[in-house]
Amino acid sequence: MKILVLNGPNLNLLGVREPDVYGIETLKDLESKLKVAANELGCEVDFRQTNSEDELIGWLHEALEAKSPVVLNPAAFTHYSYALRDACAALTSSGVELIEVHISNPHAREQFRQNSVIAAVATGQIAGFGFDSYALALRQLAKG
Ligand code: DQA
Repeated sequence: MKILVLNGPNLNLLGVREPDVYGIETLKDLESKLKVAANELGCEVDFRQTNSEDELIGWLHEALEAKSPVVLNPAAFTHYSYALRDACAALTSSGVELIEVHISNPHAREQFRQNSVIAAVATGQIAGFGFDSYALALRQLAKG
């Protein structure tokens, strides 16, 4: 099984950006950890990051076409992108699982982060466990 792990804007800056919130490990470190986890779970990970809403939506359409489950960290798009929400809904309403993940716990942060426009159309949400949020999502999706 191939699982798409999609990362939204500014996550390319992991390790540099607000290390007190997101830690000191990089996006490359995250990718390496997930590749190891995927290997243990017997699945394949296609790991991507973009700062572009357009590109992220295109990748979700690709997942829909291929019926590939998705781990999505929508980053700031979480809080306002109805276009991304619609793309996620297209996926989950056709039976493809999508788990929304966050490194931090947005519910414990600024008010504007406490609303996710994605959550209601995701299969589930995992937040607040650092990079382990992704590993937990992977484990769930690997169950099939
Ligand atoms: C984030 C939380 C978002 O509020 C923020 O905009 C991010 C990262 C997280 O993983 O904790 O860029 O999605």
